[in-house]
Amino acid sequence: MSRIIKIFDTTLRDGEQSPGCSMNIDEKLMVARQLARMKVDIIEAGFPIASEGDFEAVKRIAQEVKGPVICGLARTTDKDIDRAAEAIKPAERGRIHTFLATSDIHLKFKLRKDRSQVLDMAVAAVKRARKYTDDVEFSAEDATRSDIDYLCKVVEAAISAGAATVNIPDTVGYAIPQEYAERIKNLFDRVPNIDKAVISVHCHNDLGLAVSNSLAAVLSGAGQVECTINGIGERAGNAAMEEIVMALRTREPYFEARTNIVTEEIMAASRLVRNVTGMTVQANKAIVGANAFAHESGIHQDGFLKEKSTYEIMTPESVGIKQSTLILGKHSGRHALKERYKELGYKFVSDSVMIQEGEKEPPEKDVSRVPFYVKESDFDKIFERFKKLADQKKDIFDEDLEALVAEEVFRIPQAYELKKLFVRSGTDTKPQADIVMAVYGAEEENSSSGDGPVDAALRTIAEVTKTKSRMFAYEVKAITGGTDAQGEVVVRLREDNFTVMGQGSDTDIIVASAKAYINALNKLEYLKKRGEKTVEKMCE
Ligand code: KIV
Ligand code: ZN
Repeated sequence: MSRIIKIFDTTLRDGEQSPGCSMNIDEKLMVARQLARMKVDIIEAGFPIASEGDFEAVKRIAQEVKGPVICGLARTTDKDIDRAAEAIKPAERGRIHTFLATSDIHLKFKLRKDRSQVLDMAVAAVKRARKYTDDVEFSAEDATRSDIDYLCKVVEAAISAGAATVNIPDTVGYAIPQEYAERIKNLFDRVPNIDKAVISVHCHNDLGLAVSNSLAAVLSGAGQVECTINGIGERAGNAAMEEIVMALRTREPYFEARTNIVTEEIMAASRLVRNVTGMTVQANKAIVGANAFAHESGIHQDGFLKEKSTYEIMTPESVGIKQSTLILGKHSGRHALKERYKELGYKFVSDSVMIQEGEKEPPEKDVSRVPFYVKESDFDKIFERFKKLADQKKDIFDEDLEALVAEEVFRIPQAYELKKLFVRSGTDTKPQADIVMAVYGAEEENSSSGDGPVDAALRTIAEVTKTKSRMFAYEVKAITGGTDAQGEVVVRLREDNFTVMGQGSDTDIIVASAKAYINALNKLEYLKKRGEKTVEKMCE
């Protein structure tokens, strides 16, 4: 009989701590709704004390997302815990997650406290959190580098103080699977009240071992795994939820454990997180990479065609990938395009009706921001873009369709719009861009030169829009193969305390760059109008 392993998703907290991955409130809500659809057990929605935006996001998710437990992170200080409690208050079921480092290296250099002071702080924090909710989690930060005797004492004290879950994080991604499994087993053997709490694991991927470590801990009795969609997170990231869940599903008899996750929603969640964070997924990434189910070699293809199980340990359908039955190109009509989007998991709704399954009806203004529901008026625009694209390239792949949705559906109010762009560049000429844009509806034009054609185009846009943001990341990649492939550009901009990501795609990479830049400028404008700041994350 399999045990149920709880899935604690921290995409919106630890995942958001990845450089340049910050999400605004609407984006966080979209992700939280998808996590609820997947039936994750706990959503760690943010770190309420970190900023007004974080607080608001946790509170909105607690108000609007039903099903999972909604959790807020807090250090052990009273003000952190009180703030987290206030943010999760509207939730059907709310959890406070408080953490404190237990390794000597953190005690000496970061906290400047001795072991007994830290133990007291942990106990006091758990007790304070318990005044607000029965569901309190304590994390012994840097547990894998903590003295095991001391760790046992802290875990025992946290449970006695009322922690229902105790997390043993590999904060710096230092552990090795056998060693981590041994540490978890040690805790089970030595902490007398350990049966009163769920033991959780939270692994970072610095040595590429986050998933292996988490699974090794499950074999030692861990009952909760903390993870993120696509494995995003601090530095090299956290354990990838899709990998944990599919390993448990595919090898359930080995682990004698399973999760409650609706695995068919995995691909949709992966695409959504990729779209809102702009953090691309490598093609050979397990489960959700573009090549994860592609069989290339002749021997593999031959075996696969004779009997799928020769080379396939899980089906693409089990993670929500629907195999294409339609080849799309310039002769395809609206119906064929819509059918393919439906196969990819999108639903179509009239502009006025928008009801989410099992959830309360979102306000009308949010309609276009709910994932995987496409309004008919957006579909008209997508179809128009599809026709143009089909004239430029022969085969249209799913990735091209995803890019069209990313631009037309994940869209915020358009203060700036690109009307025309003309760029001259070459071996013996200084690159020059001429641009026509709509700025709050009024047509404006300008010309400027730059170091290269992309630089010229972006400088011209900055002049027309009179914006002063600083670009700190620019990434370009081909969405599919071939010289007629669409280029996808992701840019990250910063202005004052606002950090945003913009995306654009086109068969012309200079146009894609202009679109990505304008998309980011529109987001900055939107955030500035809403007064929502993405404050740098706090350090202890
Ligand atoms: O990595 C870590 O230790 C954390 C804690 C806050 C659980 O993210
Ligand atoms: Zn972490």
